[in-house]
Amino acid sequence: MQPIAFTPIQLLLNSSGIFVALMVVVTSLLLLAERYLLNYGTCKVDINAGERTLETEGGNTLLHTLLENEIFIPSACGGHGTCGFCKATILEGGGPVLPTEVTFLSRAEQRAGVRLSCQVKIRNDVKIKIPEELFNVKMFDGKVISTRSVTHDIKEIRFSCDNPDTINQRPGQYVQMQIPTPDGPVYRAYSISSAASQNNLVELNVRLIPNGVGSTYLHSLKVGDPVNFTGPYGEFHLNEDPNTEIICVGGGAGMAPMKNIIYSIYEKWPNRSVWLFFGCRGTRDVFYLDEYRELAKKFPSFKIKYALSDPVKDGEKWDDEKGFIHLAVDKYISADTPRQAFLCGPPPMIDAVTKILENKGVKDIFYDKF
Ligand code: FES
Repeated sequence: MQPIAFTPIQLLLNSSGIFVALMVVVTSLLLLAERYLLNYGTCKVDINAGERTLETEGGNTLLHTLLENEIFIPSACGGHGTCGFCKATILEGGGPVLPTEVTFLSRAEQRAGVRLSCQVKIRNDVKIKIPEELFNVKMFDGKVISTRSVTHDIKEIRFSCDNPDTINQRPGQYVQMQIPTPDGPVYRAYSISSAASQNNLVELNVRLIPNGVGSTYLHSLKVGDPVNFTGPYGEFHLNEDPNTEIICVGGGAGMAPMKNIIYSIYEKWPNRSVWLFFGCRGTRDVFYLDEYRELAKKFPSFKIKYALSDPVKDGEKWDDEKGFIHLAVDKYISADTPRQAFLCGPPPMIDAVTKILENKGVKDIFYDKF
């Protein structure tokens, strides 16, 4: 019988296979040891210099501890460390930044102690800082009150707020819809398109993403279906000075915060100057244009420019801008008045528009890239 001979490559593969298997076993043992042998006892989480103090069993993540105590920090990936939403500043305790967090944190954030709360395990008392307004975020029970297709792939869906029955949102904020999956609920963020004064409902514009877990679920909902969502969240802050002109630039489902901002403004400041620039590929992506033209008849200081980036097809009617939307922004925004801008849409659009606005002296710019 011939002895079995291994080539150097086979030996390498065999040994690296054994090494990987060993690492998996060691990691599993360490996790089990941490879970069952290490007892960190009860740990304290001090929030915003004693504003609230939570107690949790050591070994829990910070995200889990906050959610358990109904502090609804944003978390779109269910704590898997893939969305980067769940940031909190750790002032004391918390250990070093993990490799899983690095891609989501700028150097300045790392220096300031910002961490992904889903990746921080509490093994001792910690002191943290979170934005004050997160204390106002609530979990809502609601129902679908209407659903309609506004384009071939975007639905406008409205939900009632049943418990609690009021949502106090600022124009441009968003909610996180709870999406049931076989592995438990996950959350997906959607901007609110209804005006802030409509405080007993939440309206969204949801684009159907092929195989998208959130949009597929939301597009399948029917009137009367129960839903849960948390909110409101968001960094957009509308300048309250009515002399500040507002520039809204959106594309696709990036319409939602623009609609909220525009309607909220005209309920409060009928003479305020507002521009809406909206980029679409073709005519089948255009929505809310007739509604906005009606609004502009009532409030002449509201100016609307829609632009189609694809060529207009034979037989189609189009009487507005052609080309990318940043070109329309460049063409119409010129006067040197105090301005604030809100941008929402794909990253190349936001980058191009930001450049143009900055060149025109606009510094107060909020944006949401998606
Ligand atoms: S919850 Fe998504 S990164 Fe933490």
